[in-house]
Amino acid sequence: MPSILNNVRRWKQTYDWSNRGTEWCDGFGGVEKAWTHAILPRIETFLPTGHILELGPGYGVWTDFLQPFPPSGQSPLSERMTLVDLAPNCIKFCRKRFGKPNMAYHTNDGTSLSMVELGSIDFVFSFNSLVHADHAVMREYVRQLGTKMKPGSFGFIHHSNLGEYEAEFDAMEKGHDHWRGRDMTGEKFRADCRDAGLVCVFQEIIPWGSPRFIDALSLFAKPLPGQELPERVERNPDFWHQARAGDHAPAAWYVRPT
Ligand SMILES: C[S@@+](CC[C@H](N)C(=O)[O-])C[C@H]1O[C@@H](n2cnc3c(N)ncnc32)[C@H](O)[C@@H]1O
Repeated sequence: MPSILNNVRRWKQTYDWSNRGTEWCDGFGGVEKAWTHAILPRIETFLPTGHILELGPGYGVWTDFLQPFPPSGQSPLSERMTLVDLAPNCIKFCRKRFGKPNMAYHTNDGTSLSMVELGSIDFVFSFNSLVHADHAVMREYVRQLGTKMKPGSFGFIHHSNLGEYEAEFDAMEKGHDHWRGRDMTGEKFRADCRDAGLVCVFQEIIPWGSPRFIDALSLFAKPLPGQELPERVERNPDFWHQARAGDHAPAAWYVRPT
């Protein structure tokens, strides 16, 4: 069960980080392909931007693309970043890897965003990390994001939808839950957004590691005053086929309101 304590134990004490997390991209054909085919097409309409908050950066696989001072020749996708992770070794590694200018690094208790200024975030990003968080953790992050995001800003969070399969837990093969938050669902994320003054404008429910749709990619917004944004949910059985074939998500994955 991936409680906060178990997450700290795994990511701080027992996990072998010698591949820096690149190993989680093998199913995509590597880090570059995961970024180019699966992640960037879903968020590029929001980039470049000002202040990005990344939750659970690990050793910085995605930070490397989003950072304000990328390796030479690439245009920056942010002006500044705040990284928050519950594992101190991750934050220490990222600090050394990315340095100081326009970067803030914080080890937290697995839920607190108290270090982030109110109304300061232009874009929230998290991929491959909060899948291991249960509903109480997700609800707490979403509640705080309601006050930390700027009106008109968006966020993209990859999280668990395993709770949808609760009735099958006993029969599920060992390991097939992929250590996902067991009580978390896409539906709960959408409801938590509403409670926090946010709108989950597009949620893509996807399979992970088996045909079961145990994950969700949730795109959410803090609306401008008076702005009405609709919710949309879709199941995408072709996620892995599209990602591996370099067959980008349709351009209309999400059309940003003007
Ligand atoms: C599987 S690793 C992924 C890291 C990185 N996103 C990647 O794709 O390489 C999960 C990361 O999420 C962090 N994490 C897990 N639960 C968290 C929570 N509640 N708050 C902040 N970070 C968390 C872990 O410490 C770890 O760095």
